[in-house]
Amino acid sequence: MERITPGGRLLGIDRDPDAVRSAQKTLEPFGDSVTVVHGRFSELGEIAAKHGFNPANLILFDFGLSSTQVDDPERGFSFRAEGPLDMRMDPTSTLTAARIVNDYDVAEIERILREYGEERRRAWPHEIHVATRTFQGLRIAVNDELEEIEKGIRAALLTLKPGGRMATISFHSLEDRLVKSFFNVESKDCICPPQQPVCTCGHRASLRIVTRHPVRPSEEEVAANPRARSARLRVAEKL
Ligand SMILES: C[S@@+](CC[C@H](N)C(=O)[O-])C[C@H]1O[C@@H](n2cnc3c(N)ncnc32)[C@H](O)[C@@H]1O
Repeated sequence: MERITPGGRLLGIDRDPDAVRSAQKTLEPFGDSVTVVHGRFSELGEIAAKHGFNPANLILFDFGLSSTQVDDPERGFSFRAEGPLDMRMDPTSTLTAARIVNDYDVAEIERILREYGEERRRAWPHEIHVATRTFQGLRIAVNDELEEIEKGIRAALLTLKPGGRMATISFHSLEDRLVKSFFNVESKDCICPPQQPVCTCGHRASLRIVTRHPVRPSEEEVAANPRARSARLRVAEKL
């Protein structure tokens, strides 16, 4: 806010009502220049239109969980402290991790752990606790996180003005892969299979990739904030 005021306006969206309240409080000194609302990435198009933010100059996604969420045992995100199997980022939604574990059939739970927990391999790097991936898988399923990202970045591209930029911060490879492949496809004029001699897709590039490789945190940043160690920033510009 300090960088964009006076003159600029910011719309903040979070699905966690506590995060919304806390951001509203922190940003109160900026008055009408800031609007923070409860909502999901997938609803970005409608929310931006409703609050007069279409077209937007810049859109930043900070995916995943906040430290406030992870560190509250009552929210059930961490296996390091006793707590309910909840894992909802939005406590007003109905699906909890307990419901998945207790009510879903075995094949569906297996799919969730394999696809979202990336439980294909069993040889873990020593620094990762064996439960990390299981908890990651459940959390992604509870919050429908990958679908949310897909819909969110698609909506962001439609909401940006030409020359506007979107930036994404991912924390694990499933998130990063979605952004990378979306940017790759949307920066190409043709997405026909390579063996096809003539283009029939009619696809046109709608963005330019600004960060050919994702930007990683510096050693100093990781030392100051170890949770930043897996973060990857990607930026694209709308054509
Ligand atoms: C890594 S935290 C960052 C929060 C904030 N940028 C900060 O630095 O304090 C990610 C936030 O995104 C929210 N979030 C995750 N998925 C979301 C979604 N699909 N829609 C809206 N908010 C979401 C979480 O509730 C969490 O508060």
